[in-house]
Amino acid sequence: MLTLILSDYLLQHLDEESKIPYNRQVYQLLRNAILEHVLPVNGKLPSSRELATELGISRNTVLYAYEQLLAEGYVEGRSGSGTFVTDTAPHLVELERKQASDATPAEQGGPILSQRGQQLVKSAGASPQQWGAFVPGVPDVTEFPYRIWNRLQNKAWKNPAPSALTYARGGGHMALREALADHLKLARAVDCVPEQVVITAGIHQSIDLCMRLLGDPGDLAWLEDPCYWGTRNLLRASGLNFRAVPVDAEGLCPDAEDFKAVPRFIFLSPSHQYPLGMVMSLARRRLLLEYAKHHQCWIVEDDYDSEFRYSGRTIASLQGLDTSDRVLYMGTFSKTLFPGLRLGYLVLPLALVKPFIVGMEELHRGGNLLVQATLAAFMEQGFFTAHIRRMRAVYATRLSLLQQAVASRFPPELVTTTGSDAGLHVVLQLPAHCDDAAIANAAEQAGIAVRPLSRYYHDHDRSLKGLVLGYGGVEDARIKPAFDILADVIERYL
Ligand SMILES: Cc1ncc(COP(=O)(O)O)c(C=O)c1O
Repeated sequence: MLTLILSDYLLQHLDEESKIPYNRQVYQLLRNAILEHVLPVNGKLPSSRELATELGISRNTVLYAYEQLLAEGYVEGRSGSGTFVTDTAPHLVELERKQASDATPAEQGGPILSQRGQQLVKSAGASPQQWGAFVPGVPDVTEFPYRIWNRLQNKAWKNPAPSALTYARGGGHMALREALADHLKLARAVDCVPEQVVITAGIHQSIDLCMRLLGDPGDLAWLEDPCYWGTRNLLRASGLNFRAVPVDAEGLCPDAEDFKAVPRFIFLSPSHQYPLGMVMSLARRRLLLEYAKHHQCWIVEDDYDSEFRYSGRTIASLQGLDTSDRVLYMGTFSKTLFPGLRLGYLVLPLALVKPFIVGMEELHRGGNLLVQATLAAFMEQGFFTAHIRRMRAVYATRLSLLQQAVASRFPPELVTTTGSDAGLHVVLQLPAHCDDAAIANAAEQAGIAVRPLSRYYHDHDRSLKGLVLGYGGVEDARIKPAFDILADVIERYL
């Protein structure tokens, strides 16, 4: 009986036209027959001779298929009695059936992501558009001196040592750590030796490392409100709790109520608050350093774009003021060079260096040592500082063109730019009644990318209305026409 069912099944499905040889076809069909229960568990297969006759094919073809099924465990030979279908699947099926009956209806048809995963996806902030007027925070990548880079890269690739092609030791390429320590001491008054510098794949990875190595799920972190959406989402994904602390003209401004719940982390962008742009006052810096020292909190300093400062004095890092090893300083090459490079750095208190290097090796297995070597040469030979100097002038011109474009369309008491002393973006402040999210949507339809300021806030009651405009990657000649398109949209909502 089984021989007949089986030969019918095979005859129906064997394909003379197929490029797959007959022996493979017979094997695959028999396997399907077992998985689909055409052949029951413990069912006896016909002898190879019998099946070959039924199908009108050579016995060797059938023997090949049987041997393959035997090797993979679909069938087993029982001495003297023949070949039988093995009992493999039923337990799994049973288990799945049980799990399905235990699950709530919501789970059966519901979300497949963890709660953290669902939250992360729901509040995703990364823009689908990464280039064009006025995508925030993007440098002019077309100005990157790729010919110089190419030459240095070719040199690095000449006869590379095996150690340059294996995994990176956690800290990264030593010459780059040295070049960075020199640069950071000089440009940002960061107090460090090269051993304290750990190379990462950018600030996102640096934050992730800090949270995993120094925080546990449920620990509290203070975030600036408004703040960088990436920091908030990384926190959500790591299971930490956060308290959104407001900022004023002097930066983070915790009140007595905030101070009561001591956080494990305080996330700050003191040199150029993101996105509003103010600089944290010295008094506020000293207050937070003292509080962190007293309560053993970690201050995580995001110094993402302070290389580009156009007015006012260059502001030293908060890390440089810290005498109690409570500050972890983070920087990135995403603004100074280009975001796709995915290189950043952490400057750590000495006691944290070893565990962070181990953490990096265990969690992320660093690599890209030849890219790091190229960057080290780029810095050592002065190209990095020269590029920053040149781009600072380019961005200063673009900032001024954007400010002129704004002033030509709106009186300052109605619409004005703020946070323009540094960086690659400004905030275009709008009257409180404006729906900045609706404006951003309408602008997108008109081909202009901007971010509504209200989206950076956690507490919508304190949210200012405005648009975050990046000007770094917008050619001089494009700024006025692009802003005019945006201004037409804004006027509809004023
Ligand atoms: C405030 C701030 N921090 C961090 C980052 C991201 O840095 P990275 O590209 O190194 O992950 C950005 C990027 O726009 C930013 O604006």
